[in-house]
Amino acid sequence: MSHPDDDVVCNTSSNPHFQDIIASTLQNPARRNLIRGGIGLAALSTVPFLAACGGGDEDGPPGGKGKETNLGFNSVGKSLLDDVVLPAGYTYQVLHATGDPIDSSVLAYSNAGAETDDWSRRIGDHHDGMDIYYIDRKGRFSTKETDRAVLCVNHESSADAHFFHPRGQTTNGVNGKKFSQFGGWDLGVRPELEVLKEINHHGISVVELTKKGNSWGYKLNSLYNRRVTAQTPMKISGPAALQADIQAFMVTAYDPSGATSRGTINNCGHGKTPWGTYLGCEENWAFYFQMPKGSNPIDAKLIASRARYGVARTPIAEAATSATSQGWYTPSDTDDRFTRWNVSAAAASAAEDFRNEPNTFGYNVEVDPLDPNATPVKRVAMGRFAHEGAVCSIPKPGKPLAFYMGCDSRNEYIYKFVSAAKWTPSDEGRGLAAGDKYLNEGRLYVAKFKEDGSGEWIELNIKDPRISGYAAYSFVNQADVLVNVRHAADAVGATKMDRPEWGAVNPKNGEVYFTLTNNSAALRSPTTVDAANPRSYEDLDGRMGTGNPNGHIIRFKEKGSQAEATSFGWDIFLFGAEEDVGDANLSKLTEKNAFSSPDGLWFSPASGICWIQTDDGAMTDESNCMMLAAIPGEVGDGGPVIANNKVGTITGTQKTFMGALLGEARLRRFLVGPRGCEITGVTESPDGKTMFVNIQHPGENTPALGVASAFALESAWPANMGYGKAGRPRSATIVITRKDGRVIGL
Ligand code: FEO
Ligand code: CA
Ligand code: CA
Ligand code: CA
Repeated sequence: MSHPDDDVVCNTSSNPHFQDIIASTLQNPARRNLIRGGIGLAALSTVPFLAACGGGDEDGPPGGKGKETNLGFNSVGKSLLDDVVLPAGYTYQVLHATGDPIDSSVLAYSNAGAETDDWSRRIGDHHDGMDIYYIDRKGRFSTKETDRAVLCVNHESSADAHFFHPRGQTTNGVNGKKFSQFGGWDLGVRPELEVLKEINHHGISVVELTKKGNSWGYKLNSLYNRRVTAQTPMKISGPAALQADIQAFMVTAYDPSGATSRGTINNCGHGKTPWGTYLGCEENWAFYFQMPKGSNPIDAKLIASRARYGVARTPIAEAATSATSQGWYTPSDTDDRFTRWNVSAAAASAAEDFRNEPNTFGYNVEVDPLDPNATPVKRVAMGRFAHEGAVCSIPKPGKPLAFYMGCDSRNEYIYKFVSAAKWTPSDEGRGLAAGDKYLNEGRLYVAKFKEDGSGEWIELNIKDPRISGYAAYSFVNQADVLVNVRHAADAVGATKMDRPEWGAVNPKNGEVYFTLTNNSAALRSPTTVDAANPRSYEDLDGRMGTGNPNGHIIRFKEKGSQAEATSFGWDIFLFGAEEDVGDANLSKLTEKNAFSSPDGLWFSPASGICWIQTDDGAMTDESNCMMLAAIPGEVGDGGPVIANNKVGTITGTQKTFMGALLGEARLRRFLVGPRGCEITGVTESPDGKTMFVNIQHPGENTPALGVASAFALESAWPANMGYGKAGRPRSATIVITRKDGRVIGL
């Protein structure tokens, strides 16, 4: 979702931005090796792009070495329309939208907040990361296309629950409110049904797809249809030797043994495992908890832990108006569906209250999409932080698997989990048992980007004296390192990034890409830039911003192309910018491919295209959020560039490494969404001819109802395009096809 939490920063460590160590960058021999054969900046205007032409798919997938093809569509223009805009020759339909029933016993969605059921059998809200899972004739996972499939969708959810109630959210009997997970909590009791609906619109949905001709839909009564919500029972699982220590952090009144917990929230990006399971990644989970006025304090260690994650750690004041949470604890003092969101030391021990409830969130949650009865598992070995997504390396038989993971907050880090087990292709279809094999035992690393274009993966282990002796947080054991991994990453000097969002692995060469969506001037000034986060400037046009308001995309190549490598080389693939921003437009974007705040990121195995999705607030005066197609190159195909940074009277320069310019032939705007949405989540059928894209929170900027009689809606999509009952805007999955039936994008 978009983040109104510009000031929520939990990383106050003194980890470097490299501002002090840039001087020798271009003299470094290692870096010269890295950019061997690359295209220097002086030569960029003569990059031999192929002529832009349609229908080039006979040339095979682009990217990496070998013959390249070009994008086969014309860029769509910027758009402020309340619809999804696609290139000529493409069409879309809505597959499902917020509130649609997933079984026939549930009434059709009113789109007026009139539901009296608890939403546990409806499609959730805020569609986000997603993936498709094909089913073979024995009902098992298939990597090949079959005539049966389910679609798993994350429902990130957060601030727009006002659309689910007749007159917006209610507290103390007053309706018309609009709560935000980041603030706006107004003291007072909330109605039970509203809270249940809000708890259940979070999580993950699984539905079985149907296809008749070119028309896509989902089955209403499939046995595969499932909702995983903020209330669903979960297992807590980590390295066998640490399991008892891990459970000690998870002790609650729900399960005093700490072996299980309830629910997943704020599932943002996702992961798909090679064995056929789904990872729903918990991102902004920290903001759902509260310590009520006058409640008992928690101990100093828990306070230190929560401080680094932004979780409530002191009782709210009587006059508080901007504390976090949605007030989910307020409907009852005894019903633990609600009291679990009160994270004070309410009773004599942790086994009798929910002070440890926040420790049960912040994980990758593994779900078997083809086993509706399998209890989802929280994979603690992959660390606890604001998980944006988890993208797997190219699986190679006999080699470990790596999962790349961003922690999405300003100045947070990029992590990697490397499995202890070696990939065995016969594990395909083994569900959560395979998950136990690959995701419980392994090493967790954090990335340090160096000023010379190299990088280091630093293992997060209590044996590292920087961690065991860390002054700001006292770790008791390795389980503590996994549960409080942000502290451990601080201790080893990881690189603070401009808000890591999705990662993606280029299936052609295994290179790893990460979107860094943006950063503020307070946290990325001309004096705190570094080579990997090299821009700090002012966007003075329309919706203004300072720091790195338009974001960038970094990419790296593991040493020896080995997923388990502990070092890598990197460069910057693309810098977001408005085309008229001047010096800061380092990627030389034009009005045809200008973009801002990249977030979703995915490579199509069929076309090789790198798809980029935006969640922007800096150029939304000119265009709604969008999706672009890029033809990747490879790390080192560009050269050194200089960012001339300026914010107010503060100036500075930063040398960095940038891939070859893409130009209008290799970077095009493919889709622009309706008003107030972000574009997030994308997958395809294996032949690349059917694409699924999520439109999240259209109409997000609709004001709270207050005393008005009707919402002043920013968007009416998708009902304005004929989907569902007229009324309020709804998040949705759309299906995109090409009228000539060919591969999307080429
Ligand atoms: Fe949920 Fe980082 O976007
Ligand atoms: Ca702007
Ligand atoms: Ca502009
Ligand atoms: Ca996101």
